[in-house]
Amino acid sequence: MTTYGLIGDQRVRNSLSPVMFNALFKRLGCDWRYVAYSADPKDLPHVAEALKLGEWNGANVTIPHKEAVIPYLDGLSQGAAEVGAVNTIRFDRGQILGCNTDVGGFDDLLDRYGMSSLPFDVCILGAGGATRAVLHSVVRRCRGSVNVINRTYSKSCDLTSRLGGAAIPLEDAAQALETCTLLINTTSVSERDEASRFLPMLSDEVRLKKLRVIIDINYGRKSNFWRELAAANHAQFVDGLYMLAAQARRSFFLWTGQSIDLALFLKPLGVNP
Ligand code: ATR
Repeated sequence: MTTYGLIGDQRVRNSLSPVMFNALFKRLGCDWRYVAYSADPKDLPHVAEALKLGEWNGANVTIPHKEAVIPYLDGLSQGAAEVGAVNTIRFDRGQILGCNTDVGGFDDLLDRYGMSSLPFDVCILGAGGATRAVLHSVVRRCRGSVNVINRTYSKSCDLTSRLGGAAIPLEDAAQALETCTLLINTTSVSERDEASRFLPMLSDEVRLKKLRVIIDINYGRKSNFWRELAAANHAQFVDGLYMLAAQARRSFFLWTGQSIDLALFLKPLGVNP
């Protein structure tokens, strides 16, 4: 049976990718399936071997394996090599190739919400695999400063030295936050009780004077700290569902050569095109 799948850790059980893709396959009249697979980092070599043996027809990769999977692949697309992260694996004559559709998916989100150009300062929280794609997209369209703030400062330094933007230590974040118009959360943290590192940084004394939009690339959380922060600052809030659909559409194209209307990916997620 034609099978596609998602490789992540135990958090893959919360992913909406299977719901989205399986609804799409049904709509297209295909007897295909999309499954989620939880793997420890130490399992990645075995997962790659299984992929090489043709167990699946294509794969997505999510938190926390987007960078760690790279050494086990046969090659990278130019985009994935530039970004240094993989969210899509496709097969080509027995080889498994890493690609990145998160960059295009985030570009699509910015375009959809009227942010084709960013003539203001942007703050990006996080320095993981998803951050790489977001940073790559943002630096190419931002005419203000792009500041990357992460719990582990050395990781934001690595990222910005490769992709652009400035790494800001947590203790200096207040100043960057005061001038930012767009705040993007790319960490895995969206609920208040997980956000202990961010709460002091975003305490009442920090004035988000210019904030207009918060994008959280996560979705489906019971409560969302970033949504609350946006509401408290009269800013627009955008969650990660649109990006999920847009990157998936691009992955599907890499796997099948078929360009499908984005609405068919958005509909199962309950999002209007
Ligand atoms: P992915 O590659 O899919 O983005 P990841 O590499 O695990 O996943 O990245 C997760 C991001 O969330 C990292 O930036 C991580 O910060 P560190 O670089 O310091 O590990 C961030 N993150 C995870 N849990 C966090 C927490 N409780 N507070 C602050 N940041 C957190």
